[in-house]
Amino acid sequence: MLYKGIIFDLDGVICHTDKYHYKAWKKLADQIGVYFDRTINNRLRGVSRMESLEIILENYDGELTDDEKKTLAEQKNNYYRELLNNMSRADLSDEVYDTLIALRQAGCKLAIGSSSKNAGFILKKIGLGEFFDAVSDGNNISHSKPDPEVFLKAAEYINLAPAECLVVEDAESGIEAAINGGFDSAAIGDAVNCGKAMYTLRSIEDLKEIVII
Ligand code: G6P
Ligand code: MG
Repeated sequence: MLYKGIIFDLDGVICHTDKYHYKAWKKLADQIGVYFDRTINNRLRGVSRMESLEIILENYDGELTDDEKKTLAEQKNNYYRELLNNMSRADLSDEVYDTLIALRQAGCKLAIGSSSKNAGFILKKIGLGEFFDAVSDGNNISHSKPDPEVFLKAAEYINLAPAECLVVEDAESGIEAAINGGFDSAAIGDAVNCGKAMYTLRSIEDLKEIVII
């Protein structure tokens, strides 16, 4: 086997919560009269909640205090949580689930490396609450992607060195984080466009061919 551990980003890789992030930010942006579109949204992939807000506020005319920003970020999270509440096992696709099972059966350790503070809640909702060997998320890091901290912690939790792990990401910031941490990386979705990953996945199932020899 080429890799002993696979570290998965969550939003946009394991499930499509990225579309809910977009909807929630869009609602907030409309509320405060700031222009926001899917191109700007792609810059928020892998980026923490507060840093995401700062990117959105690049188009805001005026000054906000730290407290006002905190309130806006909380509002966005409330909109996002409302959308997450409707998620269920049906939001976990067969191809993702089958790939995870195949990798585990091949002997890989499987971890999550996500900047989200909602990762545990989402995993529970889609039926993977107890599935992963380790979860490293927005609650155990102080620097978000492209800093490698979230992946370094994930590797540490599964007792593997970065060189033994493959990181799977849909965000350019996530691919950069993997590279910064000394991990090989596989890009899916939007991250394919940055051209920085070692592998390009058309579907998550391609991982089986890369990892299981
Ligand atoms: C993931 C998403 C980002 C999001 C971040 C924080 O990395 O790709 O778009 O901003 O998590 O999510 P949270 O659920 O903590 O607001
Ligand atoms: Mg992502």
